[in-house]
Amino acid sequence: MQKTRIGVIGTGGISSLHLNAYKAHPQAEIAALCDLSTDLLARRGREYGVAPAHLYADYHEMLAREDLDAVSVCTWNSQHAPCTLAALASGAHVLCEKPMAMSAEQARAMQAAALTAGKLLMIGFVRRFSSDYEILKDFIDRGDFGELYHAKAVYLRRKGCPGGWFGEKARAGGGPLIDLGVHVIDLTRYLMGNPKPVSVYGATFRKLGARENIKSKPAYVAASATAHDICDVEDFCTAMIRYDNGAVVNLDASFALNLKKNVSRIELFGTQAGAKLEPELEIYSEWNGHMTDVTLTPQLPLSMDEMFAKEIDHFLRCIREGIPCRNTAEDGIELMRILDAIYQSAETGHEVILASSPSAADA
Ligand SMILES: NC(=O)c1ccc[n+]([C@@H]2O[C@H](COP(=O)([O-])OP(=O)(O)OC[C@H]3O[C@@H](n4cnc5c(N)ncnc54)[C@H](O)[C@@H]3O)[C@@H](O)[C@H]2O)c1
Repeated sequence: MQKTRIGVIGTGGISSLHLNAYKAHPQAEIAALCDLSTDLLARRGREYGVAPAHLYADYHEMLAREDLDAVSVCTWNSQHAPCTLAALASGAHVLCEKPMAMSAEQARAMQAAALTAGKLLMIGFVRRFSSDYEILKDFIDRGDFGELYHAKAVYLRRKGCPGGWFGEKARAGGGPLIDLGVHVIDLTRYLMGNPKPVSVYGATFRKLGARENIKSKPAYVAASATAHDICDVEDFCTAMIRYDNGAVVNLDASFALNLKKNVSRIELFGTQAGAKLEPELEIYSEWNGHMTDVTLTPQLPLSMDEMFAKEIDHFLRCIREGIPCRNTAEDGIELMRILDAIYQSAETGHEVILASSPSAADA
């Protein structure tokens, strides 16, 4: 069977994790790359052995000239929808980075385009492929947690906006909610069995901004960061999300917050057990009438490279073998509905009730 011919749109920071995984995969061939920055493009071409004839500054040109089977969309957020729509229309399957889009409306249009084209649209919720999450999901799916009725989804950074486009609402769509919150909301929802959101209450704050006065670097600095970046997004978001199975999730996400140290943590609470991932997995339960804590031996969190290797392998197996996709466009849409509603609630100061989502077949 022929190798799957891959194109990548956006060759900045995260693309290197996609490209490493494609390069190492026996069934993939990196056929073409595209970026607005010709310097970056030339560098990536050299790094991944793509000849100058297959490097493009315009994705329409790349999609028209190259016979691509699949495309990774690794641009800033505002370009996810247009690049995905064009790639699907050209006949390619798409792996689109998170967040799926700038809004649920865009996300629905992307899903509709994938259905029309008969192509796969997978969303880059890469953390679902981390071994500790897979192990936790395995326990949950066996019924060991009973009914999961509450979770805490926390992704807090102390120092400030990563810079570049991350702080610019027009290109990012928002701040830590759409950038970091999307990861932990998705994980808690995925582990709980993908319930549908019914209402959210949220608040966002712009109090600390980029914190240029602080001399140490932020935990994460955008590849495109400069000394003159705009920062017009929220720096902190807190929210409560209620699902149709009665479960409630609390979210906290920040680029800048006066806290002791950065935190990325998930906690789940069920009728038979609870769990914390920070990032090591601990399970809290009862055994023989005693409260019992369980840790895994050995602990198994993956490196970013390993997680992306598993994500890309899954994408290729979905395309080549037709296995069911773990990270569906449907999940991407549900996440965008939640994010839209949190921003709306933050603006109005009121709870937002979400109407039930039409299934793709009804749309
Ligand atoms: N899954 C994860 O854990 C993870 C981590 C970091 C970033 N991301 C996501 O990956 C995406 C990219 O983030 P990044 O950190 O790599 O940003 P980046 O700024 O390093 O790279 C983005 C690149 O996209 C290019 N680009 C933008 N619009 C384009 C267009 N129309 N055509 C061609 N190139 C275009 C830019 O020139 C830039 O080089 C974002 O959506 C971000 O949310 C995901």
